[in-house]
Amino acid sequence: MCGIVGYIGPRNTLGILLNGLSTLEYRGYDSAGVSFIQDGRLELIKKKGYVKELREAVAQAGFTLDDRHTNRISAGIGHTRWATHGAPSDENSHPHMSMNGKLCVVHNGIIENYAELRRFLKKKGYVFASETDTEVAAQLIEYYYGLNDNKDINAAVRRALKDIVGSYALCVLCVDEPDRLICAKKDNPIVLGIGKGENFIASDVTAMIEYTKDVVFLEDNWILTMTKDSVEITDVYGDPVEYKVEAVVWDADSVQKGGYAHFMMKEMHEEPKIFEATVEPRIKDGDIYLEHFPVDEEYMKGIHNINIIACGTAFHAGCVGKYLIEKLCRIPVVCTVASEFIYSDPIIDEHTLTLVISQSGETLDTRNAMKKAKELGSGTLAIVNVIGSTIAREADNVLYTAAGPEISVASTKAYVAQLGCLYLIALKFAHVLGKLDKEKYEYYQNELLQIPDKLEQILRKQTDIQRFASTHFNVESTFFIGRGLDYFLSMETSLKLKEISYIHSEAYAGGELKHGTIALIEDGTLVVCPITQDDLVSKMESNIKEVATRGATVLAIVPERFRDIKFSCDVRFTIPDCDELMAPILGVLPCQIFAYYMAVYKGCDVDKPRNLAKSVTVE
Ligand code: G6P
Repeated sequence: MCGIVGYIGPRNTLGILLNGLSTLEYRGYDSAGVSFIQDGRLELIKKKGYVKELREAVAQAGFTLDDRHTNRISAGIGHTRWATHGAPSDENSHPHMSMNGKLCVVHNGIIENYAELRRFLKKKGYVFASETDTEVAAQLIEYYYGLNDNKDINAAVRRALKDIVGSYALCVLCVDEPDRLICAKKDNPIVLGIGKGENFIASDVTAMIEYTKDVVFLEDNWILTMTKDSVEITDVYGDPVEYKVEAVVWDADSVQKGGYAHFMMKEMHEEPKIFEATVEPRIKDGDIYLEHFPVDEEYMKGIHNINIIACGTAFHAGCVGKYLIEKLCRIPVVCTVASEFIYSDPIIDEHTLTLVISQSGETLDTRNAMKKAKELGSGTLAIVNVIGSTIAREADNVLYTAAGPEISVASTKAYVAQLGCLYLIALKFAHVLGKLDKEKYEYYQNELLQIPDKLEQILRKQTDIQRFASTHFNVESTFFIGRGLDYFLSMETSLKLKEISYIHSEAYAGGELKHGTIALIEDGTLVVCPITQDDLVSKMESNIKEVATRGATVLAIVPERFRDIKFSCDVRFTIPDCDELMAPILGVLPCQIFAYYMAVYKGCDVDKPRNLAKSVTVE
């Protein structure tokens, strides 16, 4: 969702801000803007539309983005907005300038009592130029700044925050203090990047890793004041807090397309490497190590049930996790969409372990669900990709997926890495519980270690899928049908197709087809059937026959060992053999490639699908 960048230092500030905003585009947005102080004047340029249009507006206004020019800007902030209060428009875009032009504010999050604050400010004579909740923050800070004899912007921000109810990552630029930026955080991420004679802030590290790897993840209720040479972090009362400078392990190349047409394609091609990086270091001498997560027999015997919470793609990984843990460990597992979990009355206590899965580590629904599970007494283990993210910090323990930055909104490599962690967890738990003997335990480890090579083999055949997509991309409706693990695989790949190609798509359990959905199958309907489980072959062949006789075109995805089995499909794509328990990790890749090419042939914006955000920080 919304993205924030801020910079103070000798480089071309506008260049840093606009490049940073371009890097944050993946989060999803509909308008963008910058504000900066040049030669003591507070400037504001903002527009509905993409960063490209903002760049043009900046150039038209006569400002240079060229790093070779001396930087006359003392401080600057930028923002990409994903509309919540007020439609996307130039006026509603951030930054918001206060009525008397003293300061500009960018904000991520929601000010819940904005209507009340707006009424208060209107009575004080403030006039509003937008419909946003953020503008209220700008006016309120200015109001307190005006009342404050010492004219201290930091004090005014802290005073305003006492009145604000809601969530925020807030950044404030004041014309009277042209060399400082003030940031405040509550329930929305903001990262400080520390350089030499320059400092940065951004919603995530991807916007700054080109310049610095030394970062501080701000905590809730911290206030940051930065100049180019100094960093001061206090609590809301102004008392200094202790903070830790961490080193980012991601490199700058990971946020570039590296020759691929889209980030999504690049990220699918990274799957072998990131699966290996997630799994291989955790397997040593025939055993699995889950870092700091203590798993011994006594601990496992104390766990009576497992609860999995996640959203979107991460939820689909969780469904596979439920299947694996129940099958291997014989512990009851409930996997719930985080937004529904919050309103349910789950059976959870101190004998429950909650697995929280999130690529970004910032999804608000998932955070809220984790909070609820903790309140009910459950221990929490988070599977997270973004290092230092909120869920990673708030969970009792974290297992990082080594997927690196995932820029494409449609998650691909992070999903595969999440699966990697879930297989490790299920195998480790099962072994500790005595449900998996040493031989079988090592056999499965070995199977996992062979996955990267097999993913490579699939990537080498991607043109087969491309060819199929090139002749079917204008279908109106697609169904993904699978049974058992293949059903979860179908759910994930159906989501992928609808996210990026806007083709109506549904996933159905093969057995459910006859209970209603089959009524929708007609001439030209496309049906994709992953069939990877040996004992489900004949059942799935019956499903294929049922839809084929009603006019559907069927693409089957099957392992090599099914080569001699006749399916009534139109086209089959073969994936390498593996133990059938591992098949979801291989089966997903051709389906992701399929969704990708369907979207490309339809001319869709693959990496930035309409209406979607990568990191969803609202409920
Ligand atoms: C959004 C994204 C999805 C993602 C989901 C959960 O809806 O568009 O791609 O799967 O959020 O995100 P998380 O970061 O918690 O995995």
